[in-house]
Amino acid sequence: MTDRDKVNQEGERLQKVLAHAGVASRRAAEALIKAGRVKVNGKVVQQLGTKVFPHDQILLDDKPINRDQKSCYVLLNKPPGVITSARDPQGRTTVLDLVDIPGVRLYPVGRLDYDTSGLLLLTNDGELAYRLMHPRFEIEKTYLVGIRNAPNPDSLQRLAQGVELEDGLTAPAKVRYCGMKQMGKQSLHVVEITIHEGRNRQVRRMFDAVGYPVVALKRIRLGPLVLDKTLREGNYRHLTQEEIKALKAQVGL
Ligand code: URA
Repeated sequence: MTDRDKVNQEGERLQKVLAHAGVASRRAAEALIKAGRVKVNGKVVQQLGTKVFPHDQILLDDKPINRDQKSCYVLLNKPPGVITSARDPQGRTTVLDLVDIPGVRLYPVGRLDYDTSGLLLLTNDGELAYRLMHPRFEIEKTYLVGIRNAPNPDSLQRLAQGVELEDGLTAPAKVRYCGMKQMGKQSLHVVEITIHEGRNRQVRRMFDAVGYPVVALKRIRLGPLVLDKTLREGNYRHLTQEEIKALKAQVGL
């Protein structure tokens, strides 16, 4: 049995996991547990030696710990009104204000517009980030698009086949009308669209081109990553080992 198999089957002591995550020494980690500052899957755990498994969510002072010190992969549910860059000259909130992991320098993988919400991956794994953004790998991204009026079938077909934008024809997309749904505070007609290109403001421009300006836009999938229904806007979680493996497999790593 490999070490990883053993951890998967038998779990690891919570204080050891905290120490490996760079939170504190083993002894100091024990003190944090006793003080009730550590939660496992939402519940305070004060019992030393509690076994935890790789899929367990561990929080210290309500912030997820980083169980993989070497590389860090974070899935953020970006709220609208937050900028996807490291710093903003106008002083607006950035995604890095929301994901502040001490000692880890993260970068967003691709961009979501200021008003777009949903799944944003942040990592310090430069090679993976580079490949995920490279058009060669055709990573699929799925969005929920909120529009004011019910779309006609012709427009949906045009979106699926490709629309002419100022930077050229878009590649074929998967398009599905989902009916009326609540998006944020508004009830809107919602279209689900999956594209694999990553042009600037692509989805908004595609919908503009067919006469349905986007009122709300949310990304719900990036390759094998799916936005959890339970992850609230502004919150984040670390990817599981399975998700990291699946992401890497999609880009030949
Ligand atoms: N397409 C857009 O128009 N905006 C985004 O934020 C993402 C995709």
